[in-house]
Amino acid sequence: MRMLKIMFLWSFCLSVCHGYRLLGLFPFHGKSHFVMFEQLMKGLARKGHQIDVISTFPLKKPYPNYTDIVKLTPPHVFVNNVSYEFMQVLLSANPVYSIATMAGNDICKHLENPAIQELARNPPKDPPYDAVLMEVFGAQCFAIFPYLWDVPLIAVSTTALYPWLPPLIAQPENLAFVPNNKNQKTWLSKLYFNYLTREQSEIIRKHFGPNLPGIRELETKIALMLINSHFALNGIQPKTPAAVDVGGLHIQDEDSTLQPELEEWINDSKDGFIYFTFGSMVMIETFPREFLNILYASLSKIAPIRVLMKIPNPEKLPPGVPKNIYMSPWMPQIKILKHPKIRAFITHGGLLGTLEAIAYGVPMIGIPLFADQFMNIDAYVARNIAVKLDLHKMTEKDMDRALNAILWDPIYKETVRNFSQIFLDRPLNALDTAIYWIEYVIKYGSNVLRSPAMDLTWWELSLLDVFAFLLFCAAIIIMTVVFIVNFLLKILNGNDHNSLHSKKNN
Ligand SMILES: *[C@@H]1O[C@H](CO)[C@@H](O)[C@H](O)[C@H]1NC(C)=O
Ligand SMILES: *[C@@H]1O[C@H](CO)[C@@H](O)[C@H](O)[C@H]1NC(C)=O
Ligand SMILES: *[C@@H]1O[C@H](CO)[C@@H](O)[C@H](O)[C@H]1NC(C)=O
Ligand SMILES: *[C@@H]1O[C@H](CO)[C@@H](O)[C@H](O)[C@H]1NC(C)=O
Repeated sequence: MRMLKIMFLWSFCLSVCHGYRLLGLFPFHGKSHFVMFEQLMKGLARKGHQIDVISTFPLKKPYPNYTDIVKLTPPHVFVNNVSYEFMQVLLSANPVYSIATMAGNDICKHLENPAIQELARNPPKDPPYDAVLMEVFGAQCFAIFPYLWDVPLIAVSTTALYPWLPPLIAQPENLAFVPNNKNQKTWLSKLYFNYLTREQSEIIRKHFGPNLPGIRELETKIALMLINSHFALNGIQPKTPAAVDVGGLHIQDEDSTLQPELEEWINDSKDGFIYFTFGSMVMIETFPREFLNILYASLSKIAPIRVLMKIPNPEKLPPGVPKNIYMSPWMPQIKILKHPKIRAFITHGGLLGTLEAIAYGVPMIGIPLFADQFMNIDAYVARNIAVKLDLHKMTEKDMDRALNAILWDPIYKETVRNFSQIFLDRPLNALDTAIYWIEYVIKYGSNVLRSPAMDLTWWELSLLDVFAFLLFCAAIIIMTVVFIVNFLLKILNGNDHNSLHSKKNN
C-alpha cells in the first residue's frame, strides 16, 4: 500500500514537477481575443506549468501558477466603448489597414516599455523560459523575444488565418478550394499587410540592436500555430502539422457563476428566454432611436418569452424598455448559453460568442456590425443555424419574422444541435490538443513540425523549376527527333539521287 502511494506520488510528480515555464505575449487590447488566451494559459497552469503573461487584461482574481508580470496600458480602449458613431469609423476603414496599424504597428510601441526591455535583456534564470506564446494578428514584432532567448515560438490565432499568416508556417493555400481565401483580395491583402508592417523591423532594431533580423524573417521562426478554427466550420483543407486546429478552445466553464438576482430571473422565466448581446465592445444604447424602437416593439411581442440583454449602460437607453427584458452590463455568457431555458441567441456575429452558441446548440439571429461578423453570420445562415438581419434596412416586420422563425421553426434548433455534435466530437478536446502540441514542440525542438516548404522559393514550391526542366527536356527530344528525321530524309534523298544516277549510268 505504502509502495503504491509512493509510486503514485512519483508519477504525479513526473507529470507536475517537470512543468515548463512559459511566457504569454498578448499585448493587443481586444477582450474577445484575450478570452481565448486566458483559457489557454489557465489550462497550461492547471497542467502544472508556470505561466507568465504580458497583456492589457490582468486577472481580477489570482490564479495558481499564473502571473501577470507586465500590465500594459492600451493605446485604444474598445471594451464597452464602441459607440454607434465610432462603429461607422471602423466600418469605413480598410480592415487590413486597421489590423496592420491599430492592432499592429501601434501595439509594437509597447516594446519601448522599460519593463519589457528589461525582461528581454534579463529574462528570468530560475527556471528560464521554455517557450513563448504570442498572438498572431497584426503585431508579430513580439517574435523578437523567443529569438533573443533561443526558445520555441508558439503562435495563437483567435480566428481562421488572415491571408498573411499561412506563409509563416508554409500552410498550403490552394485558392481553388480553400474557403477563406476564395476571394481575389487575398494576394492583395497579404502584400498590403506586409507593406504596412515593414516599419516593425525598424521598431525592433531601434530597441534591441541594429543587426537583428527584420520582421519578415522573425515571423517565420514560428514552431507551431494554434488556430481557432475547425473543418466543420471552416471547410476541408490540407493542413501542415504545424497548423493545429483548436476551434472552441475558449469554451471553458470553469469559474463563472450566475449572479443570484439573474439566476432567480432565469428560474422565473417559465417560457424560456432569448439572450441578446452585441459583444464586449459595442454600446447598444448609442444606436439610433429607430433601431431601438424596432427592438422594443418586436421583443415585447414575444412575451411571455423573456429577453436577457447585455448592455454597458442600461440607464442611457431611451424610455419604453419592454417589461420582459432584463439588462445587465456583464453576463457569465457560457452559463447563460448552456442554460436549459435558453431559446435563441441574438448576436452581432463575433466568432467566439457564436462558437459558444454552436457548442451548446443554440440557434441564432445575426445582426452583423463590422469586421468578420458578416462572413461568420453568412456561414451560419448557409448551414441553417441562423437567421440574418441587416442593421440598416431591417424593419419591425423583419425582426418579427426572424424571431418567429428562430423560436417556432424547430429546424434551426435541430440543425445546430447536430452541428454541435460534429464540432465537438474529437479525439482530444481543443484545450488538451493545444497543450499536447505545445509540450511536443518544447520537448522535441522548434523545427520538429517545420515544413520543408519553408526553405523553398515560390517558384520551387509551385514546381515551376520542374515544369521548366520538363519543357526543356521536351524541347531537346523534339529537336533531336527533328534532327534525326531530317538526317534520315537526307540519306534517303541521297540514295534516291544515287539510284537515279546509277539508273542513268546503266
Ligand atoms: C505550479 O508549478 C509548480 C512548478 O511547475 C508546481 O510544482 C506546482 O505544483 C504548480 N502549482 C499548481 C497549483 O498547479
Ligand atoms: C473610448 O473611445 C473614445 C473614442 O470613441 C476614446 O476617445 C476614449 O478615450 C475611449 N475611452 C477610454 C476610457 O479610453
Ligand atoms: C434556480 O433553480 C435551480 C434548479 O431548479 C436551483 O438549484 C436554484 O437554487 C434556483 N436558484 C434561485 C436563485 O432560485
Ligand atoms: C439531425 O441528426 C439526426 C440523426 O443523425 C437526423 O436524423 C436528422 O435528420 C438531423 N436533422 C437535421 C435538421 O439535420
